[in-house]
Amino acid sequence: MRGTITLLQYEHGIIRQVTDVLSVMVKQGTLAKHQRQVTRIASFMDSYVTKMHHQVEERFLFKTAMAMSADLAKGARALMDDHAKVNGLISRLKQLSSRKQAFEDGTLAFVAKELVEAMTQHIRHEEDIYYPKVEEALSMEKDAELLMAIDEFTKAKFDREFVRTSEDVAIKLQDEVLGPGYYQGIR
Ligand SMILES: [Fe+2]
Ligand SMILES: [Fe+2]
Repeated sequence: MRGTITLLQYEHGIIRQVTDVLSVMVKQGTLAKHQRQVTRIASFMDSYVTKMHHQVEERFLFKTAMAMSADLAKGARALMDDHAKVNGLISRLKQLSSRKQAFEDGTLAFVAKELVEAMTQHIRHEEDIYYPKVEEALSMEKDAELLMAIDEFTKAKFDREFVRTSEDVAIKLQDEVLGPGYYQGIR
């Protein structure tokens, strides 16, 4: 087990909670009913995913993995292409969520569906294929170095409360859209 991987997997858990909320709204056709929540999901995704999680992966884990083997380098490049696509969809969702019209004419629903699919697939790929490979190749020493560098990066870029606030947003969104205790109930 490597701390860096554990940390990133934990973040995936938070991202998945919010992605699931969006997914339920897409499936039930209730995006227009939850415009305020969609706006909050878009800004959560922008800060937590685009600006934090993807940056941490690219600057630290992938950068290190790329230097370890050609196979890991190839994998990292493919995952970075996914990041570019997902970040683009997040920024599109953010723009559209401020336009009432986009909720009515189906453009927002289209982007939301694409985002849910791309995000889900990307996380699955990292968890099932890429992370286990990196975990095998990463030494304890390098892992400790990475964790320290990630901690420094996060402290420099985000305020002290960022992680806790983001987690609160994820839970609140679930409660508002899926009903209180939804996740406790299905555990
Ligand atoms: Fe990623
Ligand atoms: Fe990730």
